[in-house]
Amino acid sequence: MKVPPVKIYFPEQDRLEILEKLDGILQSGRLTLGDYTKEFEEKFSSYNGSKYAVAVNSGTSALEIILRSLDVKGSSVIVPTNTFLATAFAVIHAGADVIFADCGEDLNLDPENIEAALKPDTKGVVLVHIGGNIPAKLNEIQDLCEDKNLFLVEDAAHAHGSTIDDKKAGTLGIAGGFSFYPTKVITSGEGGIITTDNEDIYNRALVFRDQGKAGFTANVHTELGYNWRMSELHAVLGMYQLSRLDEFITTRQKIAQIYDESLSDVKNIQTLPLPANMKSNYYKYIAILDSSQNRQTVKQTLREKHDVFFGGEVYELPCHLQPVFKDLYGLKEGMFPKAEDLCARHVCLPMFATMTEAEANHVVASIKEVV
Ligand SMILES: Cc1ncc(COP(=O)(O)O)c(C=O)c1O
Repeated sequence: MKVPPVKIYFPEQDRLEILEKLDGILQSGRLTLGDYTKEFEEKFSSYNGSKYAVAVNSGTSALEIILRSLDVKGSSVIVPTNTFLATAFAVIHAGADVIFADCGEDLNLDPENIEAALKPDTKGVVLVHIGGNIPAKLNEIQDLCEDKNLFLVEDAAHAHGSTIDDKKAGTLGIAGGFSFYPTKVITSGEGGIITTDNEDIYNRALVFRDQGKAGFTANVHTELGYNWRMSELHAVLGMYQLSRLDEFITTRQKIAQIYDESLSDVKNIQTLPLPANMKSNYYKYIAILDSSQNRQTVKQTLREKHDVFFGGEVYELPCHLQPVFKDLYGLKEGMFPKAEDLCARHVCLPMFATMTEAEANHVVASIKEVV
């Protein structure tokens, strides 16, 4: 049995309906920022419990627009070092300096590391829900941000539908940015969305995403915007995937439960402790290998001997050790020991919306032979 790391899934019924809608769009000639984009935004904000949603062409642009709307230019913004480069790039492109911070045991930022990273010009924090897991210390992070007058933005690229105390990712700070890149829990091909309750961020985001224009048909440019528009075709894909999100998460949670239970007594690999009040969408199922294990060898043996393919890590190399930032900020190894250690030792088990119990059991049996 071959188990891939991820599978992108559009059920047949959805594919047929999507094709019909795409045909309608092509006939109508309204290809961007039209009724489907609006409908997608309404459905997403209603699903998420946020007042507003603004659809854009990527998760990266969602973050940059939020940060521009918060006027970060000339300040500094804290991001975890163990994130996708896009989080940090968005800060820089919005005109601020990035300050990296170490992570805690759950691979997420914690208040101590945020406090240690603070500089006099720090304006806010971008919290990344790594693997779809909202940080255990969210309340303390929120309190710290309030005390220090920092904004809290969520990079929710991994966390569609994840909740903490029944509140959804994307509603936990001043604004959240989601990605619909193909490997994410739901996809629109390419795309992203901003969620917020803040009217000013909402209004400015609408302007930023369309070349800073005051309105769709106006030729008055009031902001330094860009082409960050979502096309109607992508909006249709996103809408159909959104209608499947809860169903996809239910399957992922069932697979995670099998992994949790079957791996609990396996030596040399540990499951990640998650808070009881948090429900992950399991964008990634993260486990930590004992330092006696060589990740490369483990993954290669699983692939070659058992046909089990692990997913990409989150992340293999922390940002501060990426060549682009080493050169830019003079960062070096040893600065963020927890992130360096966990980035080097964690693995992401296969996880997708159509995964079967038999596939999960095969993954577990294979791991037991290899580690
Ligand atoms: C944590 C994180 N932030 C931001 C992004 C950027 O999203 P996108 O690829 O849609 O621009 C991604 C996704 O790839 C991500 O994983």
